[in-house]
Parts: sequence; structure tokens; C-alpha cells
Amino acid sequence: MHMRAPTQANRNSFYSDNKFIIGLFGANCSSGRAVTLVDERWGGSWREGRALAQMADEVGIDFMLPIGRWKGYGGDTDYQGATLETFNWASGLLASTKRITVFGTIHAPLFNPIMAAKMCVTADHIGEGRFGLNIVCGWNEGEFEMFGVSQRDHDNRYKYAQEWVEVVKKCWSNEDDFTYEGEFLQHRKTRSKPKPWGGSRPVIMNAGASDDGKAFAVRNCDAFFTQANRESVEGMQKRVLDLKADARALGRDMEIYTVGVVTCRPTMKEAQEYYHYAAVERADWSAVDSIMAIKGLTPENMGKEAFELRRSQFANGMGGLPLTGDPDYVADQLIRLSESGLRGLACSMVNYSAELPYFAQEVLPRLEKRGLRAPVRA
Ligand SMILES: Cc1cc2nc3c(=O)[nH]c(=O)nc-3n(C[C@H](O)[C@H](O)[C@H](O)COP(=O)(O)O)c2cc1C
Repeated sequence: MHMRAPTQANRNSFYSDNKFIIGLFGANCSSGRAVTLVDERWGGSWREGRALAQMADEVGIDFMLPIGRWKGYGGDTDYQGATLETFNWASGLLASTKRITVFGTIHAPLFNPIMAAKMCVTADHIGEGRFGLNIVCGWNEGEFEMFGVSQRDHDNRYKYAQEWVEVVKKCWSNEDDFTYEGEFLQHRKTRSKPKPWGGSRPVIMNAGASDDGKAFAVRNCDAFFTQANRESVEGMQKRVLDLKADARALGRDMEIYTVGVVTCRPTMKEAQEYYHYAAVERADWSAVDSIMAIKGLTPENMGKEAFELRRSQFANGMGGLPLTGDPDYVADQLIRLSESGLRGLACSMVNYSAELPYFAQEVLPRLEKRGLRAPVRA
């Protein structure tokens, strides 16, 4: 197991010395985050996921972030149609690795918080303090329908989630037999033991895109994931500073992360050609169109040009920042993200296991040289 004490600060930085933290996103899902037909697309099986997490652990990747997905998006591949449940997945990975932080993703409206708090604690004990919680407050309508749960309107989703996270944190605290009287949630004489590992609690993240989502993160989370601003480092810098200042005004520290899609090859040309092959020529366009429809995006309501742009972005890792190039280029892009104040990146690759070794061999040492990452601890 890792050598660090599970203090809150250590948990919040994923037990990492790295200035720029890197994780893998979406490996519990078939196709990962690549909406593509290519044969080598990610399968998402348990064996593949475990082998990947063990490799990631060895090369110093800091975290694994799965996606809580209950229903695939259809198309020729049924994009993300087969997904492993994230808490079970995280527990298995935590038992199979030594240092890496593994998140479980939970849809707050679908799970009673008393149950959720204990699921987190169980995974956290298995990982001896390496479990993290990603709170999702609501998203794809069809998934909720499947559970027989109707989504609250957007505003109330986050009000409910506020109560939900307060109850979870109370379960983790030393307060015994607590009573919670909220507008949405009522719990009497509530007891939850054991507590999370080592006297602190799991790192909590959220990735809400709306103002309500951001405000929720500022109030409750240690890590907030936001779309990278493709326009300018300055624009991103301002957003990061504003978010952190909002958290600090509440006496909290929150770090900001973003999402990217890595296509790293020995030359720019090879990387660009592969990207074009996987995310354009052989994109699963029928799945992309289904994603657009689920999100209610049409040329009529957003304009033809914006629609086409969004469509191409969804084909590329569902809108993550494309990091396509040779190792120097990819490392430079990551340096730019770090310079904009971001603490790290959750990234995906078309086939994580096939592509991670090259990334680890070529990109990570470049980041070490620039002081963004420390060499892997023995
Ligand atoms: C890094 C990241 C992880 C996310 N994980 C999930 C997930 O596992 N399951 C899910 O349904 N939504 C997930 N989402 C969606 C967000 O939680 C959120 O619902 C969405 O961005 C809409 O934001 P809003 O609720 O503020 O409108 C994720 C988004 C990002 C950027």
C-alpha cells in the first residue's frame, strides 16, 4: 500500500507529489469515451480494466475515474452500452493496486445516501484511503426513466443533492444517532460505522456544467472538473481563479481539473492521421447523432454551424480537449493547461492499454523535466 498518511490533504491531491495530476477516464465502459467503429476500440471488460489499472499504478498515473452509465447511447456500437458498475469496479481495482486513487460515480437521486455513504466507506477500507466519490446530480433522462425515477427540475436537482451530500458527510462524521430533517430527506437516529479510513474522508468531485452545478462543487467538493477553454490560456486562467476564489470565500480549497483525449504518436502526422481515422472516417456517427438527440441538440435550436462543431466534438471523446500530436506537442499542451492553473487532467485514449505505455514512456518524462511531475516512487 502507499506510504502516505490518509490525511485530507493527501487524499485531495491523490497522494501525489505531482504539480499536474493525471487520471484515466471512462475505462469501465465499452468504447471508453471514443465514439468510434475502429476494431481496437476499448472493450471495457473487468480483465482489461484491472490490467490497465495495474499498469497505470506502476507508471505513476494518479487516478481512475469511471463513468456511471446505465444505458448505452445506441448507434452501430451501442456506445457505452456495456458498463461495469463503478463501486464494484473501484473496489476490485483498489484491491488490485497499491497507490492509485479510484473513484466511484454515483447518481445522487438514484441511491439513498445512507447506502451510498457505506458503499464509499467499504471501498475506502479496501483501498486504505484511496477511494474517491464523483457525485452526479442528474443527466440522461432515459436512465432515470429506466429506474422509474423522474428527474427533478434542474434547480431542485441541486437542492436535493445538497441535502444528499450533507447526509453522506454526517454518516462519515463522528456524530452518532443523528437526525436530519431536510426538505427532501429525513433520516432518524442514523448510525453508520465504520467511518472512512484513517480519520479523513474520501475526496469528493463533481463536474456540473451549469451555474447550479458549479455552485454545488464550490460548496461541497474538493475537485471540480470543467471543460477546457479551447480559446485561450487567459480565459481558462480566469475561470480557474474565479472558481478557486469562490471556494476560498467559503473557507474551502478546491482544485480544478479538465478532461482530454490523448492521441500521442511518434510524429505529428501519424497522430493526426490516426485521430482522423478513428474520430472522423470511422466515427460511429449514428451513435453521435443519438447523443445529440438525447441532449436535445438540433441544427434548428443551435444553428447549423454550432451543431456541426458539437457533432464533431462528440465524436472525439464526447467533447474532451483533443491532445493530438507527438510527445513534445502533447507535453506542451499539458504544460499550457497547468499554466492556466488547472491541477490536472482526466484523459481517455481509444485503446487505453495499447496507448498508455507510449504516453508513460515519452510524455511523462517530459513533464518531469519541466517540474510538473515527480518520478514514480519505488
Ligand atoms: C469529468 C466528468 C465526469 C462525469 N461523470 C459522469 C458520470 O459518470 N455519469 C453521468 O451521468 N454524468 C457524468 N458527468 C456529467 C456531469 O456530472 C453533469 O451532469 C453534466 O456535466 C451536466 O451538468 P449540470 O448537471 O450542471 O447541468 C460527468 C462530466 C464530466 C465532465
